[in-house]
Amino acid sequence: MAKKVQSAFFCQNCGTQSPKWLGKCPQCNEWNTYVEEVINREEKTKSWTGKNSKTNTPSLISEIDFTNEKRIDTPDKELNRVLGGGIVPGSIVLLGGDPGIGKSTLLLQLALQMKTKKVLYVTGEESEKQIKMRANRISQTSENCFILCETSTQNIFQQIEKLQPNILIADSIQTLHTAMIDSTPGSVSQIRSCTGELLKFAKETGTAVFLIGHITKDGSLAGPKILEHMVDTVLQFEGDRNHVYRILRTIKNRFGSASELGVYQMGQGGLRQVSNPSEILISQRDEPTSGVAISATMEGARPLLIEIQSLVSSAVYGTPQRSATGYDGKRLNMLLAVLEKRCGFRLGAKDVFLNITGGIKIDDTATDLAVICSVLSSDKNVPLGMEVCFAAEIGLSGELRAVTRIEERILEAEKLGYKQIVISKHSKLSKKDFKISIKQCGKIEEVFRLFF
Ligand code: TYD
Ligand code: MG
Repeated sequence: MAKKVQSAFFCQNCGTQSPKWLGKCPQCNEWNTYVEEVINREEKTKSWTGKNSKTNTPSLISEIDFTNEKRIDTPDKELNRVLGGGIVPGSIVLLGGDPGIGKSTLLLQLALQMKTKKVLYVTGEESEKQIKMRANRISQTSENCFILCETSTQNIFQQIEKLQPNILIADSIQTLHTAMIDSTPGSVSQIRSCTGELLKFAKETGTAVFLIGHITKDGSLAGPKILEHMVDTVLQFEGDRNHVYRILRTIKNRFGSASELGVYQMGQGGLRQVSNPSEILISQRDEPTSGVAISATMEGARPLLIEIQSLVSSAVYGTPQRSATGYDGKRLNMLLAVLEKRCGFRLGAKDVFLNITGGIKIDDTATDLAVICSVLSSDKNVPLGMEVCFAAEIGLSGELRAVTRIEERILEAEKLGYKQIVISKHSKLSKKDFKISIKQCGKIEEVFRLFF
């Protein structure tokens, strides 16, 4: 008797399953995303079968044996920080990012640096030779790093049983496929079941698994959102391809803070950790220039000093131009309106261009004051001085509002040798003995009188 082929329709955007084709997905409201995929629930080949296939019984929470889960420390300080203090055995980490941003490089580098742990790097995208070429470029070797070019999860599990690695890296999840399901690699049901198999494997053996995931045009992880729900940690590798700096950001972390940040620099010899990002984000100047203001911001849980540059010139056309790179254009317009109202600037007749240096994007409201000061500095052509920085939010009536974690910002500015920081007078400081001089202002007009 002919075997009945089972199929279903899946939304390629969110993973919703439907027995028939739909034009518009009822879950995510996207049009034309349904694709028929063959699902075959009959087990053909064995997938990951754990040793302990006993059925679980409920246990009393106070009796659960909790020996402080020992994390694997990596030589990469930035990665440790982002993961919340090392790799958790049995966890599954998804690393997403644009093509060519350096995901494969980051994880290959990790594989080569972990000299004491056995690492298996499974690649479905490149050949062994290409990986070797990259390893040569990073100029690292390890006696404990194995490369496997394979895309079938069943074959991968066979090799894993022989090799018994401590860490498994899969580059990328979109290229893997399982024989349990008949649809093509990269489709929703393949991604879901491959991740499911790897998840089961990770939890049962205590192996740490890293998955590389591609990103779609609009910046979300390719494949369905469900991938993010299944894994323990989601990291995003981002940065401007024309700049050398790369930011590794935690989006979700079951074992640590989700607002951590790691900074790397991509060079000829691979990725280098940047332990003091503030230093590189501020350009080296010999003399003060107008239009430049330094802001003490927070990126996640990390204080970061960044440089804001602006250029104000007379508008040639009727409508003045506003352009912001790395900063929210709407927020810039709002700040300019506040300036116009409170400080009497005729900014309606001026073009304003704003730029955050280093190719990074900022959405911390504490940069408001620095943005305003840099615009004013360019407009008046008065430099602000090289030893002053700013951290305050601006309200619509021109008042300086307190921002979070002000002491960490002050300490970072102090560490980098700044002499003065301007903050809101409403900021509460528990510690008083800072070396840096702290200027507390209540209104934008006070700051104006101070510098211009
Ligand atoms: P890659 O890791 O292949 O990116 P992904 O896996 O995210 O697609 O990174 C590739 C980019 O990094 C590529 O454009 C070349 C560059 N690169 C360097 O600049 N220096 C290096 O040492 C290496 C290995 C790569
Ligand atoms: Mg790659």
